[in-house]
Amino acid sequence: MNIDLTTSLGSLQLSAPTLTASGCAAAGKELAQFGDVSTLGAVVTKSIMMAPRSGRATPRMAETPSGMLNSIGLQGPGIESFLENDLAWLRANNVTTIVSIAGNNVDEFGELARILSKVEGVDGLEVNISCPNVESRGQVFACNPYSAAQVIETVRSVWHSDAPVLAKLSPDVTDIVEIAQSVVEAGVDGVSMINTLLGMVIDVDHMKPMLGGRTGGLSGPAIRPVAVRAIYQVHAALPHLPILGMGGIRTGHDALEFIAAGASAVSIGTVVFGDPGAPWRIANELGQELESRGYNSLSEVVGLAHHN
Ligand code: SIN
Repeated sequence: MNIDLTTSLGSLQLSAPTLTASGCAAAGKELAQFGDVSTLGAVVTKSIMMAPRSGRATPRMAETPSGMLNSIGLQGPGIESFLENDLAWLRANNVTTIVSIAGNNVDEFGELARILSKVEGVDGLEVNISCPNVESRGQVFACNPYSAAQVIETVRSVWHSDAPVLAKLSPDVTDIVEIAQSVVEAGVDGVSMINTLLGMVIDVDHMKPMLGGRTGGLSGPAIRPVAVRAIYQVHAALPHLPILGMGGIRTGHDALEFIAAGASAVSIGTVVFGDPGAPWRIANELGQELESRGYNSLSEVVGLAHHN
């Protein structure tokens, strides 16, 4: 195959177009038995918080038609352990790393960014302002343009690294373009979209919500058309804004839809639970999809669906 699959997200050059999606491959180490993690576009880590966190009550997952609901609640080891164990492993293995961060409030986002801007091995920052599994909807900062901008302004004010800052957006809004515009004005270098959609499954034998946290985030192929639509809208309004696309990608054909809608690279999430080699497989398939259509490079197809 002679297709150039290299791409970029702002200042970050990527040797491959497929990345892991935050939350679906921990901090990359778990995938190492299935492929060379350093050959992925990047590992996007599970969102890290300041303190260790046990997450929400169980059960935390439910299968849905063409999808999955998760209600993890940002379980994680906290920033200190992350730096010592996870980031150290990623660095030692030459993995391009985008660290996802989540805070309980604006100040925590700022503190995490301040810490991470001083350490080696952080190639990008994904600011997760859109986790649906939080105590109050007020903590879904990405559902309000003012709150979203506040987080990004705070992160930006302490981010002294050249690595790009991406804001992860929620599809659970009336106008995702308005949110994208507000984070751009606040200083992001790009956006990741989309996070999961808020959903619920009821266990009718016990007449109660299936998940311990009651609601959860819907992912998988069921949300793919929503993601493609959202990316298309944001690229139409902000054509120069780098977009990392995600939402139910299972094949190279799916990935190509995201690229044509305006994404420069894609994150592979839910499919990894059943097929851990998917990020490598999908990159290969994407190359074949491009080649069979007569293209020479991925970059010539970014946003192409806007011109036809
Ligand atoms: C979670 O940990 O609950 C999921 C995080 C997210 O969807 O942003």
